[in-house]
Amino acid sequence: MSSAGTIDTNCMTLTRFVLAEQRRAPDATGDMTLLLTTIQAAVKAISSAVRKAGLAKLYGIAGQTNVQGEEVKKLDVLANDLFINLMRSSYTTCLLVSEENENVIEVETEKQGKYIICFDPLDGSSNIDCLVSIGSIFGIYKRLSKSNPTVEDALQPGKSLVAAGYALYGSATALVLSTGQGVNGFMLDPAIGEFILTDPKMTVPSRGKIYSINEGYAGTWDDAVKEYVESKKNPKTGKPYGARYIGSMVADVHRTLKYGGIFMYPATKDAPSGKLRLLYECNPMGYIMEQAGGIASNGSISILDIEPKNIHERSPIFLGSKDDVNDVLAVIAKYKKA
Ligand code: AHM
Ligand code: MG
Repeated sequence: MSSAGTIDTNCMTLTRFVLAEQRRAPDATGDMTLLLTTIQAAVKAISSAVRKAGLAKLYGIAGQTNVQGEEVKKLDVLANDLFINLMRSSYTTCLLVSEENENVIEVETEKQGKYIICFDPLDGSSNIDCLVSIGSIFGIYKRLSKSNPTVEDALQPGKSLVAAGYALYGSATALVLSTGQGVNGFMLDPAIGEFILTDPKMTVPSRGKIYSINEGYAGTWDDAVKEYVESKKNPKTGKPYGARYIGSMVADVHRTLKYGGIFMYPATKDAPSGKLRLLYECNPMGYIMEQAGGIASNGSISILDIEPKNIHERSPIFLGSKDDVNDVLAVIAKYKKA
């Protein structure tokens, strides 16, 4: 904050930050800067729609189901349209993967750029109607094909991401971003319509005091997850962990990043691969968490090492503070050996 009072006359906006990062990369063409600026525009528009959803009658079911057979709300449709239209017209992308579209979307040849973006335009949709936090998630890859991009270009492991992030429409709108050099958090200042750097160089504490999992499914977890969660609730020594579960991945992961602890969506009897989608939920969030010094695992390997086979595949996920995730991985490994 400047000495003049409430107005910072030299604030670090997201656009300024990304431009400065571009300057540090000697071969940069400016395309990533443009792409991130475009994502920023999509997020601002979605944030505005989320904030006036009730008034603008954007709640409720749009009368469609998405490829996973879930009900699609009006806000989801709007967020998806915004992302697709803005990405397409940015001249920086060639292939789009959206949670809401069954197939990859190929950008018209004359508008193609070198990036592939996988996104969940509005995650946590079951929370829309009751005003609980929701978010947008995105991961960006470079295209591999020399000629027309194919679905294979989108099936890259998370370790090949060149940037990823999420927007959280919570009590404020936050945008958390990594381009592979740590994690930075920005907050939307509604007075000027700009994202301002508020959380530079975010790191997740090495251990937290919170576990986050949908405990309603406890009866369908495997024994390792049951044992781990029990050890947090009734530890042999020390205090029990607190339980927090919002049911919006972005909000649960953001809290984990800020306060430490562990977020889990494991395999269940009914969903042997878990629920969350690898390309546009697990990978971007795993990338952010690892860039912040934490861990993201499917229980056996790093989320970022999984070689995707199809664009909508799911993965179990354990992510958060290093020590906490290593604890659950040790219990899982013990059961695997037995
Ligand atoms: P969505 O993409 O249909 O919104 O579902 C994903 C959401 C995540 O945000 C959240 O972590 C999870 O579903 C909650 O699922 P559950 O209600 O099974 O606990
Ligand atoms: Mg989702």
